[in-house]
Amino acid sequence: MSTTAASHDVVPVSVADERVLVIDFGSQYAQLIARRVREQNVYCEIVRHDITAERIRKHSPRGLILSGGPSSVYEDGAPQCDPAIFEIGIPVLGICYGMQLACNALGGQVENTPSREYGRSRVEVTSHSDLFAGMPEATDVWMSHGDQVAQVSDDFMPLAKTSTCPIAAVKHSSLPVYGIQFHPEVTHTPLGGTLLHNFLISICGCKGTWHLGDFARETIDALRERIGDSRVICGLSGGVDSAVTAALLYEAIGSQLSCILVDNGLLRKDEQAAVILEFTEHFKADLHVVDGEERFLSTLAGITEPQEKRRRIGHAFIECFKEEAAKIEDATYLAQGTLYPDVIESGAAPDGPAATIKLHHNVGGLPDELGFELVEPLRDLFKDEVRKLGLELGLPPDLVWRHPFPGPGLAVRCLGDITREKLDVLREADAIVVGEIKAAGLYRETSQVFAVLLPVQSVGVMGDARTYENAIAVRSVNTDDFMTADWSHLPYELLARISTRIINEVKGVNRVCYDISSKPPATIEWE
Ligand code: XMP
Repeated sequence: MSTTAASHDVVPVSVADERVLVIDFGSQYAQLIARRVREQNVYCEIVRHDITAERIRKHSPRGLILSGGPSSVYEDGAPQCDPAIFEIGIPVLGICYGMQLACNALGGQVENTPSREYGRSRVEVTSHSDLFAGMPEATDVWMSHGDQVAQVSDDFMPLAKTSTCPIAAVKHSSLPVYGIQFHPEVTHTPLGGTLLHNFLISICGCKGTWHLGDFARETIDALRERIGDSRVICGLSGGVDSAVTAALLYEAIGSQLSCILVDNGLLRKDEQAAVILEFTEHFKADLHVVDGEERFLSTLAGITEPQEKRRRIGHAFIECFKEEAAKIEDATYLAQGTLYPDVIESGAAPDGPAATIKLHHNVGGLPDELGFELVEPLRDLFKDEVRKLGLELGLPPDLVWRHPFPGPGLAVRCLGDITREKLDVLREADAIVVGEIKAAGLYRETSQVFAVLLPVQSVGVMGDARTYENAIAVRSVNTDDFMTADWSHLPYELLARISTRIINEVKGVNRVCYDISSKPPATIEWE
């Protein structure tokens, strides 16, 4: 085994030859902007606000987007950009704070407005220049600002206004610099996609060459070249990220790939079956399934504290993985399904924004001491792109669209201490919940759906007999980023069917509740 080295598997140049950079000024929407740009088939990366014009030139981008941000441009310590970026000659689109920064740098005046604007607003387009081409006279937009541009020099032409914001969009008369006060990246700006399309295609001259099919082909070639005839180990979790990672590697190196799936006894009903089938039937990979149930259940016996459960599960996972990996001879590389948001949030992207503070549950992460070189072929992709890539590679839709499942599995949904019997009850109830959601055609519309076994017993009556049995909570949430979430407003008939089926079919349950808490203040998982 060679020494550990975190790698940056560079996106093949030809599929990313049209690159746009989002300069991040601390916006909560920077990732969303990047996703929206990629939806226009233009490859996009997020970079730090203090990146120099010289570094930017090295990326050879077709355009720059300055994100919004929470600061005021005149505030002490407010993030600024290198003013030389406006001289590079490539088009710049400033959004909200980004517009204020651009106008301020090029002769405008930003003021704190008496009427702050948060939420929906109606913008009146006063000039249908290239940026607003094809858009109606008035359109709904999403605003979120305290400051706004009060005055601009004669070098700028106003393009749009709202009732409280006289300069809601501008264009510089001699430089390719544009600014908009509203947010085109959020769904509440219905024509935001048209505006971004105008900027990327008409103004930046991009052709839209970023296609996942090309990405797959070129990544497979690049992986093949990098790995040569070495062996790669890839952990499969049952989730989409590791499955797509393994599928890409299998296409690249076939039998040189060894997959390890640790069955910790905390998986959902029939969880590994689909993965095992896929990676032995379709991909015919060298698959090692580790039966770790005994080990995990004994280390968890009597443990009720959630973080202690996580710690023990994480530890047992590493032990199982290490032991199995040691049986695989000549392995040099370890493949991981790291995604672009993980890279950004860990602060590991070259030129990327600094790490933001994020509560990380991470269980199942493998320590550096394993001594492999890392292969992370998905580290430039967003989750929705990973799913598309999975379909592109021929993975079954059921696997590709699977809801996220936490590393500690059912252990954090079986509240209190854990036994095999309790897990079996939970597994059956969970399968009914998920099955009914799927049957109602709501699986893709919900973000995470599951059952929780509560550590309480309550009185019921079944037939003529009094019962004293378990309660199940049903949790279904809708969310974009899992940092905040709303409970799903499921139809009553569906909830009724779920309840009746669980109580009738799962032995040991006589009560079902629906969790109507949003996050925050509740979390998605119960532990
Ligand atoms: P919470 O419960 O914090 O969950 O609202 C947010 C998302 O994270 C998942 N989650 C975990 N994932 N290990 C994981 O890999 C964990 O320990 C863990 N805890 C929660 C949760 O399922 C949801 O998608």
